[in-house]
Amino acid sequence: MPNAIVLHEVGGPEKLQFESIPEPVPGPGQVRIRQTAIGLNFIDVYLRTGLYKAPAFPFIPGQEGAGVVEALGPGVAEVAVGDRVAYAGVNGAYAEVRVLPADRLVHLPDGVDDRTAAAMMLKGMTAEYLLFRCARVQAGDTILFHAAAGGVGSIACQWARALGVRVLGTVGGPAKVRRAKDNGCAEVIDTKSEDIVARVKALTGGAGVAAVFDSVGKDTFAASLDCLRPRGMLVLFGQSSGVVPPLDLSQLAAKGSLFVTRPTMGHYVATRPELVASAGRLCEVVSSGAVRIEIGRIYPLRDAAQAHRDLEARQTTGSTVLLP
Ligand SMILES: NC(=O)c1ccc[n+]([C@@H]2O[C@H](COP(=O)([O-])OP(=O)(O)OC[C@H]3O[C@@H](n4cnc5c(N)ncnc54)[C@H](OP(=O)(O)O)[C@@H]3O)[C@@H](O)[C@H]2O)c1
Repeated sequence: MPNAIVLHEVGGPEKLQFESIPEPVPGPGQVRIRQTAIGLNFIDVYLRTGLYKAPAFPFIPGQEGAGVVEALGPGVAEVAVGDRVAYAGVNGAYAEVRVLPADRLVHLPDGVDDRTAAAMMLKGMTAEYLLFRCARVQAGDTILFHAAAGGVGSIACQWARALGVRVLGTVGGPAKVRRAKDNGCAEVIDTKSEDIVARVKALTGGAGVAAVFDSVGKDTFAASLDCLRPRGMLVLFGQSSGVVPPLDLSQLAAKGSLFVTRPTMGHYVATRPELVASAGRLCEVVSSGAVRIEIGRIYPLRDAAQAHRDLEARQTTGSTVLLP
């Protein structure tokens, strides 16, 4: 029987139990893949703690992975047995084998190896929709990206820089400043010792930035609003530090007719054409070398609990991969 990490109830990392599961059988439109690498994401923490509701228990967490198709359910046309594939946004990744809808899989080009794919699919498609389709950044813009040495941040900052955007990044602690610079940040603000708003104002001649990408949430949201230029856009796309309290919308007028959005990847890769286009653009920019996928840490799947502890403790940089 294959092994998986199973959650029987919400709680701390110790609730992530390594267990044998019955071999899953693909239903209509589904395939079974044997996974070679699995990506760790902060959303896995939200689902483990109960901040986001798991559909049912027992629950296998994880939303990102790569592997080889080994069985097809009835009516599958998108892939064939033996294909090398990857996916993002479908729970159940922390397992040696899994089933998922065939229309959520994308083929991997030769230039992208399995570990890289598992490290980039969810974080990289997030970077793609945030930059191109949500905030629509332009060459010459100045933006602020929080957690610039993290998983999404590492990819998005490199990509924005490649587009000709001036990226100001924030990180927690001096050890991550160098990494954020390597990720293309023109300037890096250490949130543990520096005032975010004062530094952004100083770095923009008092003007503020065109867009702020904030996945930290509770600890940074108020500062993020104050870093924007008039008619700038705050993209709140996560809450690693906690949930943002309700916002008085009249503040948006007072602070310069600001825009705020709270997007999630699922709505930007909802259709198969959107998914294929987003993944294609990501594979292309990675294959070109303009964006490099940094795998900061690799853990055996059975050590998923330790990987969660390290992610929550802000110990990781770049992407983290679990190996089945
Ligand atoms: N909406 C979407 O479509 C979408 C998709 C993917 C990810 N996300 C969100 O994007 C964020 C990044 O995801 P990721 O998987 O790539 O994680 P990550 O950025 O590798 O890790 C989170 C980072 O947030 C920073 N952080 C600041 N305060 C924190 C706190 N109190 N506790 C923990 N971390 C804190 C830390 O960086 P510093 O120490 O440098 O500050 C930490 O390394 C998450 O909030 C995630 O939910 C959203």
